[in-house]
Amino acid sequence: MDIHTTIPADAKVKARVEALLSGMSLEAKIGQLVQLGGADFIPGPKPEDIIRRGGAGSVLWLNDTKRFNELQKIAVEESPSKIPLLFALDVIHGYRTIFPVPLAMAASWDPSTVERAQAIAAREARAAGLHWTFAPMLDIARDARWGRIVEGAGEDPCLGAAMAAAQVRGFQGDYLGAPDHVVACAKHFAGYGASDGGRDYDPVYLPEGQLRNVYFPPFRAAVEAGVGTFMSAYMDLNDVPASGNRWLLRDVLRGEWGFQGFVVSDAFAVGNLVIQGFARDGRDAAFRALSAGLDMDMASGTYLEHLAGLVEDGTLDMALIDDAVRAVLAIKVRMGLFEQPYTDESLLEQVVALPEHRSAARIAAQRSMVLLRNEGRLLPLAKDLKHVAVIGPVADSKPATEGSWMVFGHVPAAVTVLEGIRAKLPGATVEYAPGPEIRRDIPSWMENLDIMNSEPRKAPQTPAEAETAFQTAVETARRADVIIMVLGENASMSGEAASRASLDLPGRQEELLKAVAALCKPVVLVLLNGRPLSINWAAENIPAILEAWQPGTEGGHAVADILFGDANPGGKLPVAFPRKGSHAPLYYARNLTHSPESSPIYNPRYWDGLPTPLYPFGFGLSYTTFAITDLAVSAAQVRVGDTVSVTASVTNTGAVAGDEVVQLYIHQRAGSDSRPMRELKGFERVTLQPGETKTVTFRLGPSELGYWSTNLGHWVQDAAAFDLWVGADSLAELHAELVVE
Ligand code: NOJ
Repeated sequence: MDIHTTIPADAKVKARVEALLSGMSLEAKIGQLVQLGGADFIPGPKPEDIIRRGGAGSVLWLNDTKRFNELQKIAVEESPSKIPLLFALDVIHGYRTIFPVPLAMAASWDPSTVERAQAIAAREARAAGLHWTFAPMLDIARDARWGRIVEGAGEDPCLGAAMAAAQVRGFQGDYLGAPDHVVACAKHFAGYGASDGGRDYDPVYLPEGQLRNVYFPPFRAAVEAGVGTFMSAYMDLNDVPASGNRWLLRDVLRGEWGFQGFVVSDAFAVGNLVIQGFARDGRDAAFRALSAGLDMDMASGTYLEHLAGLVEDGTLDMALIDDAVRAVLAIKVRMGLFEQPYTDESLLEQVVALPEHRSAARIAAQRSMVLLRNEGRLLPLAKDLKHVAVIGPVADSKPATEGSWMVFGHVPAAVTVLEGIRAKLPGATVEYAPGPEIRRDIPSWMENLDIMNSEPRKAPQTPAEAETAFQTAVETARRADVIIMVLGENASMSGEAASRASLDLPGRQEELLKAVAALCKPVVLVLLNGRPLSINWAAENIPAILEAWQPGTEGGHAVADILFGDANPGGKLPVAFPRKGSHAPLYYARNLTHSPESSPIYNPRYWDGLPTPLYPFGFGLSYTTFAITDLAVSAAQVRVGDTVSVTASVTNTGAVAGDEVVQLYIHQRAGSDSRPMRELKGFERVTLQPGETKTVTFRLGPSELGYWSTNLGHWVQDAAAFDLWVGADSLAELHAELVVE
């Protein structure tokens, strides 16, 4: 029977792997642990020569179905062990149909939307001949300066774990090897989001309690969802690089969590163990990475060069190589590569043309947007407007609309916000002016590679050109009845190597916003960005603000749907918005202090401005209103180990249908350790017609109430009193108590 229609039994996979392994030379085995960079910018021998010798098990940075088939033919017909290659790429938020960036997808608070998006991404990627994506990125990020915050689900472990599981299910389907799906890769294990100062790649210092209670849960959820592979992080974690970290890769990941797949390094990371000042030389790096549990070397060539020598002189135990190879082969067997190593070169165009892909992208974008302000119910706008001005440097930018991390070689083809508004208002005059350009002060090293699909390269505007653009934008706004400002960040301003020290709107955007607001006309601000921004002035002075993130291929249509009331915003912030970049890291789940806000000696933390977020975690408005009432706990007192259910009613008290995300937070009042003043423990996004009421139910049991105690050095569930809150954001006030004895 075709392997694509049956789930191969574990025993069968094992037997097949053993049979393959027994016929392989040491060189052929090592080849399976080597991932080759297939892009032209990688120096060294041609990929076909390495593959022909059996020197590679996987290829990345290649996105060309025809070339996949050519290389695959060499692997399966000419290499000594004839084992097919696994083709891998970063398919982060869509392959051809681009979905909102992952931070935006998390703002949907809707795992089913996220699962569907990644299933479509997988389907397109697989049709192109890819087998494996380097996603999802599961790094908790509490520092908005860190550029890669855009790739994850934000600051919270509970939301992060739900998004992790949804993405793994979406990419992989019901089982590894499901038709039209790919293998997922949980990355970057672990702690990458907590780099010192939010500076990308810098070291991370996280106590074990923080790792286990905050940074690990999304990774653990991915393992439980059956993720096939893991990627180790680049940086030092508590002075041990993640790629040479035996505690992470062996003790926790395999030992405690029972992960059975394989671990790939981040790009060049094995070789970088030398640069990082950990390994003496390449040989030492190869030895330490493999011994630590890192199975596949991404692009550094260090395994290819050194592993054989290490085995031959008895330094490295052959059994370690065999185990790593087994894990790689098992994935190849499960993926059905031995039965079907090639891809039909005409498939992709049929698959990407499926209309449901575009409509899913539009719905996902609508569902991910967060309405931050709507004074006087300025939104939704009427569709009979006569003259609209769309202003701002990202309003008509396809790269900024599709966002950070598009697929290698992809040509941005998004519907921009300007195009979406024009399509929505066929009878109106819609004028556009970009205003002064925005650009990074220091370009990214990635802009020279064709990975970023960033803005077209052109010379910087002169100050005089910028001034003309500024004045033109103001004059364009002056002629209109309503002004839609579309401000934020370029695609290259967030993502890898895209950290920044300030969270202000880059360039002269705020100045332009002020000048346009001074015209005393209705102004709506639409933000396109991959991280929280400090928009303090706008938050007080611009009546309507929509956080649209980087919304993907259908982003412009989705923005217009929301602005003109064809969709009602229901997204919620997956990260707090700090008032200043220097307030980072900022997150709601902080511990209490001896001087809490309720205390008479409350110290406001900074004397030069409020330390509280401008917009809190979990926050987002709607065109309708909701009441959350009738909070009830199934038992007021329970014993350690018991589970209670927590229920609340949510009613749409307004005049239009809409979505509310009901959120449950807890606080343990005393116990073995101090615990955060609030922690999210459950959420549900519900759709309600006007006047409709639904009941939501959450469970609180040992896994929600327990935690890793630093004081005790193990997991614990304390007998303690808890505060519970249910509401529409992390400042929820509806309160109940629970006593655990
Ligand atoms: C480096 C990035 O850190 C990682 O996320 C990505 O998957 C690899 N490069 C491969 O492109």
